[in-house]
Amino acid sequence: MLSREENELITRVGPDTPMGRLMRQFWIPALLSSELPEPDCAPVRVLLLCERLIAFRDTTGKVGLIQNHCPHRGASLFFGRNEEAGLRCVYHGWKFDTDGNCIDMPNEPAESDFKSKVRAVAYPCVERNGLVWTYMGPRPTPPPLPDIEGNMQPNSVANAFTQVGNWLQILEGDLDTIHAGLLHYGSIRVEDQPLGTFSEYQIRDRTARFEMLDTDAGVTYGAYRPAGPGERYWRIAQYYFPFWASTPPGVLGLKVMQHARVPMDDEHTISFTVVPRRPSHPAAQLPPDTARPVRDPWFDRLANDLCAVNDFGIDRSVQRQNTGPDGFTGIHGIIAQDGAMTTSMGPTVDRTREHLGSTDAAIIRVRRRLLTAARALEETGSVPACIDNPAAFHHRAGGVLLPEDVDWIEATRELRKGFVDHPELDPAINGPL
Ligand code: FES
Ligand SMILES: [Fe+2]
Repeated sequence: MLSREENELITRVGPDTPMGRLMRQFWIPALLSSELPEPDCAPVRVLLLCERLIAFRDTTGKVGLIQNHCPHRGASLFFGRNEEAGLRCVYHGWKFDTDGNCIDMPNEPAESDFKSKVRAVAYPCVERNGLVWTYMGPRPTPPPLPDIEGNMQPNSVANAFTQVGNWLQILEGDLDTIHAGLLHYGSIRVEDQPLGTFSEYQIRDRTARFEMLDTDAGVTYGAYRPAGPGERYWRIAQYYFPFWASTPPGVLGLKVMQHARVPMDDEHTISFTVVPRRPSHPAAQLPPDTARPVRDPWFDRLANDLCAVNDFGIDRSVQRQNTGPDGFTGIHGIIAQDGAMTTSMGPTVDRTREHLGSTDAAIIRVRRRLLTAARALEETGSVPACIDNPAAFHHRAGGVLLPEDVDWIEATRELRKGFVDHPELDPAINGPL
């Protein structure tokens, strides 16, 4: 439970808020490279941390992210002509390059030097394996990109979808790993799981005991339950500042996948998934690439078909049958099941009214880390050290079997390291879930 003030502090992300200022210290995933498929293609509306921006790929292939409202009289640059290395507002023809410089002003007399005095807000962008990152922070020279492993393998891909709901309650869905055994697998029977796999242990015992470990990048947490004789099944997961997570499905040491729950504004979130495309990877499940009729082009850019307006497609007859992966909810697929829960909380969940139990330990710890970091920035100007240390993000998630009597932190130290190959591990131990 948080106080009303804490809930405000931790959820609001506008430019004049403590959490908004904290997030702006980090590189932020803004859009997919595939949304700007070629030079001089159509610009894209991007809502990020409560700012309305226009992304465009110029003639040279460089991505720009500039203010929506033209600096002249405020028309949207979305309607602009993307041509000859700049985006030209179609109202009076002012043209801006990817750095925000005004490079043409055809409605002013030729002798005017007015254009040298006008600049659009423009944020630097870099692309890495299908993801466009931007830096909206105060430093003249941005920090290095964080080493988010799912975005750094030679075959890495990125996907994204948008949904209604504050970013933190969606991130907390990643931290609340215990829900998988109910929301996603509540109708799955243990008799149907291959013996000796993580799937068997997860379904045999739908609760777990949580242990926390603070890291430079955020929080590592482990949840354990009984496995074979003298053994425990541990599910290890990661939270990384400010909005990244890696969840436990898969095998620790083999699994590489991260999710970013990026605030569009206080009540809408874009989720990015970055993962090496590996056909045998049991957890390489990406959100679908869907386009559906758009009601508000700022919010619904990559919205899924199953969403609040159709109750996430809930089918009560499937729910009554109570078998198979959709049987507990009657909602098809993990993405929609999660979305139904996090969107239905309301635009921002009221954390003064919740009742957190022992399996919510990771949520509680991550909130503390975020509140502490936001307050430290306000009070002393200090930022989390991981901003300047890309290697601080080298942490993996996944499942592992350990003897009952070992220290999980020591026993998983090597397997939790990113960017290490483990040919000795067998992905089949995961089972089908
Ligand atoms: S409003 Fe854009 S050029 Fe005038
Ligand atoms: Fe989930």
